[in-house]
Amino acid sequence: MSLVYLNGQWQRPEEAAVSVFDRGFLFADGIYEVVPFYQGYPLEFEAHFARLENSLQAINIPNPHTQTEWLSICQTLAEGIANANAIIYIQVTRGAEYPRQHLPSNSLTPTVMATASAWTPPETTAPPVRVELMDDIRWLRCDIKSISLLGNILLKQQAAQCGAFEPILQRAGRITEGASCNYFMVKNGVLFTPPKDNLILPGITRDWVLSLAHQCGIPVEEQAFSVDDLMQADECFLTSSTREVQPVGFIGETAIANAKLGPITEQLAQAFRMSRPQGPALA
Ligand code: PDD
Repeated sequence: MSLVYLNGQWQRPEEAAVSVFDRGFLFADGIYEVVPFYQGYPLEFEAHFARLENSLQAINIPNPHTQTEWLSICQTLAEGIANANAIIYIQVTRGAEYPRQHLPSNSLTPTVMATASAWTPPETTAPPVRVELMDDIRWLRCDIKSISLLGNILLKQQAAQCGAFEPILQRAGRITEGASCNYFMVKNGVLFTPPKDNLILPGITRDWVLSLAHQCGIPVEEQAFSVDDLMQADECFLTSSTREVQPVGFIGETAIANAKLGPITEQLAQAFRMSRPQGPALA
């Protein structure tokens, strides 16, 4: 494991520690970001930074670093991993204060942490998986990348108990997203994904896939779709920084695309692999 970045210092993982009075620990009062690095180069770093900034602004924590500083921290972390294929995890909490009180003081110093873990970017498109349709029990600010993930974790556990790879969530009959991914469906050659609102995390992979679809000439609709629409879909896939484009073969017991890899899903998964970063993050 590479060193841990904690509050301006580089520490060995076994030494890195935060206060038990940290509001992240007591209240999950903080946000996070996940940035994939491919051989030392991040995918869409500016977009990850912008989302980090939005999450911080939404919960009134000043951004402790500039974009250039964050990039340098992430690069240093990635270089500590074999081949610099790394998933960088960033977390910023409101900071520590005693005694515990719900209303935070104004003058807290945020706790800033970042780590890297090894990953292997997929070389081929993964086989289709089964996902489980479940009620979206989370809060109404899913656009904030909050570290408060209890709803997501419970849903993920329930899906795993059903033998499913991931939940696919619905609110009032409308598909939102997964516990840790965004969803797409294809119907009659058109690619659909729910619009960016408070009900989903604005996935960086989602936006990247949409731009690839435009380049490939695939018509796109960022539009809400219902559970019924989904069950009639020709193809379905999910996206995230760690999964890229992951085909879906079953929703519960219902087969999608005959449980096979659909052509548009494969086209986009391939286009994704071709578009991986091979050079510096910032112009
Ligand atoms: N999760 N929706 C949710 C709820 C997520 O947690 C994630 C990512 C996404 C996809 O976002 P992106 O394409 O930017 O990775 C959508 C990360 C990977 C995580 O929590 O580890």
